[in-house]
Amino acid sequence: ARIFIPRDTTALSLGADSVAQRLEYEAAERGLEVTLIRNGSRGMAWLEPLVEIETSQGRMAYGPVTSADVPSLLDAGLLEGRTEHPLSQGRTDAIPWLARQQRLTFARIGVTDPLSLDDYRAHDGFRGLDKALAESPQHLVDEVKDSGLRGRGGAAFPTGIKWQTVLDAPAEQKYIVCNADEGDSGTFADRLVMECDPYLLIEGMAIAGLAVGATQGYIYLRSEYPLAHRILEAAIARAEAAGYLGDNIGDSGHTFHLEIRLGAGAYICGEETSLLESLEGKRGQVRFKPPLPAIEGFFGRPTVVNNVLTLAAVPYIIASGARAYAHYGMGRSRGTLALQLAGNVKYGGLVELAFGTTLRELMENYGGGTLSGRPLRAVQVGGPLGAYLPESQWDLPLDYETFAADDAVVGHGGIVMFDDSVDMAEQARFSMEFCRIESCGKCTPCRIGSARGVEVIDRIRRNDNRDSNLALLSELCETMEDGSLCAMGGMTPYPVQSALTHFPDDFLRQAEGEQ
Ligand code: NAI
Ligand code: SF4
Repeated sequence: ARIFIPRDTTALSLGADSVAQRLEYEAAERGLEVTLIRNGSRGMAWLEPLVEIETSQGRMAYGPVTSADVPSLLDAGLLEGRTEHPLSQGRTDAIPWLARQQRLTFARIGVTDPLSLDDYRAHDGFRGLDKALAESPQHLVDEVKDSGLRGRGGAAFPTGIKWQTVLDAPAEQKYIVCNADEGDSGTFADRLVMECDPYLLIEGMAIAGLAVGATQGYIYLRSEYPLAHRILEAAIARAEAAGYLGDNIGDSGHTFHLEIRLGAGAYICGEETSLLESLEGKRGQVRFKPPLPAIEGFFGRPTVVNNVLTLAAVPYIIASGARAYAHYGMGRSRGTLALQLAGNVKYGGLVELAFGTTLRELMENYGGGTLSGRPLRAVQVGGPLGAYLPESQWDLPLDYETFAADDAVVGHGGIVMFDDSVDMAEQARFSMEFCRIESCGKCTPCRIGSARGVEVIDRIRRNDNRDSNLALLSELCETMEDGSLCAMGGMTPYPVQSALTHFPDDFLRQAEGEQ
């Protein structure tokens, strides 16, 4: 029997290795033949470690499994896929949380063995690259343009237009740089791609290289992802050996080399120009724009800098056509969005859906409310620079323009939930403090503004000249928003001001409490 036990970071941190060891031990003791496959996660973090068994009716799921559950699972017919055990979740594909999703980018995660090229190919892998090898660069760029794909790192710039800029830039050497410095709070979608379906990213980058005429790619990976690093290294080596990377991809005469570079723990290195500085071996400080990286990027050469999820969306677009992708979504937000449910949530994990769904749908129907069981009060969408949204904004459809019109950001799709015990004044302070710590120091509104911001919020919370300090905080936020060089200083006011606007009582409550 084929048994699947994930080995991505989530499952491992929840004890997947000890479950696997116990299963092998128990099977040997009982004289049972099992083949253990270490797949990736399906993205249902609340069910990890999720053990699956292949049966004639499809894969049957059990979770969350601990090593102590293994004997009783075997007794209850795990190997036959029986469903009597309390941990049985029935057929994996039929679990409503998963079945209701629209998985295009994440179609394979948890299904395949991440490092098996055969498995990847058997599940539609390399179809995009095969097609791309026979197409002209302009056709590939046009497909990406027509798909409506926009940068999934958060800024939502049309990917096809960025690629066109690089394709049109005359240069001997061009680069593809993948931004895998996933630093937003509550986000893990990039990691899931890299740990659970690494060839997808490799394929997306190789297609990007063919599209713009770049022969060298780099994955700038945060050092906090050691497992993703190991898996990517192994995947790149195997892809090279099989001719999907290197000097003569698929005997086409095309060249694309790929290497990994590790970050050193700075949030700002997720900003594309700091990332390029860091990649060049310098201190990660933001560059002035223009010139855009698309014109003068890595070592001054035309460079595509795209997020993991943007590049990972490309193989589907090329394999299935721009229209198939653009069919999903609403308005100018086409395709699907990888939403990551985190924070105080009962059923956390990865939900891939077409744009247009609402936060309420996600937090209640997928998330199942808070883990604490207390009422939901606020949600931060789009990382530490995203606004805190009160209930009145939970019915907005998730779409870049709709969110922007309401002072909110979709960003990289991180959704961090808070129950009614949250102190939003403390959260506002945290945002300023985060900016103070992570500021690259290049411009004054951010470097000095965030330090003063923390002090002003502290004074407000102490009820020290409250009204004048509130006015000062608003002015400071305006200055940071208008005068900062990049999104770090420019967007920190979002969470701060949204906390002030929507949860004013929290700033009062603290003051009264201390009197
Ligand atoms: P931006 O709007 O300046 O640029 C977006 C992208 O489009 C960049 O790659 C830029 O080089 C490119 N671009 C702009 N005009 C172009 C043109 N004419 N031709 C070709 N390329 C062009 O935004 P930025 O500063 O890169 O990113 C800010 C965003 O990052 C925020 O909205 C935030 O949501 C997000 N963010 C994401 C984080 C994460 O961990 N994923 C963390 C923090 C912020
Ligand atoms: Fe650096 Fe902050 Fe200025 Fe961005 S806003 S360039 S992080 S000092």
